Amino acid sequence: TDGVLVDRYGRVARDLRVSLTDKCNLRCTYCMPAEGLPWLAGPELLTDEEVVRLVRVAVERLGVTEVRFTGGEPLIRPGLLGIVAAVAALAPRPRISLTTNGIGLDRLAPALREAGLDRVNVSLDTLDPARFTTLTRRPRLDAVLAGLAGAAAAGLSPVKINSVLMRGVNEDEAPALLRFAVDHDYQLRIIEQMPLDAQHGWDRATMVTAEEILTSLRTVFDLSPDPAERGAAPAETWLVDGGPARVGVIASVTRPFCGDCDRTRLTADGQVRACLFATEESDLRAALRTGTDDEELARRWRTAMWGKRAGHGIDDPTFLQPTRPMSAIGG
Ligand code: GTP
Ligand code: 5AD
Ligand code: SF4
Repeated sequence: TDGVLVDRYGRVARDLRVSLTDKCNLRCTYCMPAEGLPWLAGPELLTDEEVVRLVRVAVERLGVTEVRFTGGEPLIRPGLLGIVAAVAALAPRPRISLTTNGIGLDRLAPALREAGLDRVNVSLDTLDPARFTTLTRRPRLDAVLAGLAGAAAAGLSPVKINSVLMRGVNEDEAPALLRFAVDHDYQLRIIEQMPLDAQHGWDRATMVTAEEILTSLRTVFDLSPDPAERGAAPAETWLVDGGPARVGVIASVTRPFCGDCDRTRLTADGQVRACLFATEESDLRAALRTGTDDEELARRWRTAMWGKRAGHGIDDPTFLQPTRPMSAIGG
């Protein structure tokens, strides 16, 4: 390799998150407005070949070992299967995962598995059909449940579920979500909402905290510390009723894991971001479209990561939400 993606605090980024589109077929109220957002124009998006080239640079030259595809909603990217197959053919082969809302996954899971996808994380915030429709503005709960089942049937395991709790919306659902996950052998993670919504409506005071999530789960389940190593995982995990089932809590706001962060990001329009909350981006798309070679692309990527800040700074009085919402950065 040409050297790893290390920053000035000594963190090494081995986990690359690639957004394949900023579009989505849901309209979660905590993510984007009903009318959607001004989407990236076609020519702004990296082509399939450009995505694969940049992932190849990261894997061959920069020590990246994990590649996660995100969106927006990555299943709506037409070239997804080909991209996964090309990334699975890299040497050394990275582990490949996908974060999705699950719609269409029942149909696509076998082909994704065949292409080389290892596992999936599916977003699901409620099991109540009416609530689901209110929350996502689309009546697609059944499609998501079918997607989960299809992923498990295709051997994309472990299948994880990501749930964001919102006060006055679904804050009471943690135990029901865990019951459902345990019964189906999915691994639930409940997530603190972060200030990354397009509408800038996040409010720390109304955020459902990890503390509250655990208290709510403990009304129904016995949770004991998970002896497994956490590593750089964002989720802190507990054994459910003695195990082997586990539940995770991703406490990005109240218990930040920035000090152990091992992530680097590539947006759908080819910008490297050192962090979800980065205020700067490095334009690799412009570089590769003007003939820059792999060695120089790798050098620019390393430079971008060197500038990574120590933490997200949500608690700083001067904190400013990034201009791009989460759907355009990649979850
Ligand atoms: P696993 O490898 O399966 O543990 O995946 P993951 O949890 O890293 O990825 P996933 O895409 O499922 O993300 C789950 C949640 O973690 C997201 O909804 C975010 O809330 C949070 N998250 C992901 N990446 C970051 C990050 O870089 N910083 C912070 N603060 N939170 C993140
Ligand atoms: N804070 C935390 N998680 C979020 N997600 C979307 N917006 C936010 C936010 N503001 C979650 C989705 C999905 C994952 C990709 O990110 O629910 O599970
Ligand atoms: Fe789509 Fe995910 Fe945003 Fe919901 S949170 S609108 S599923 S990108």
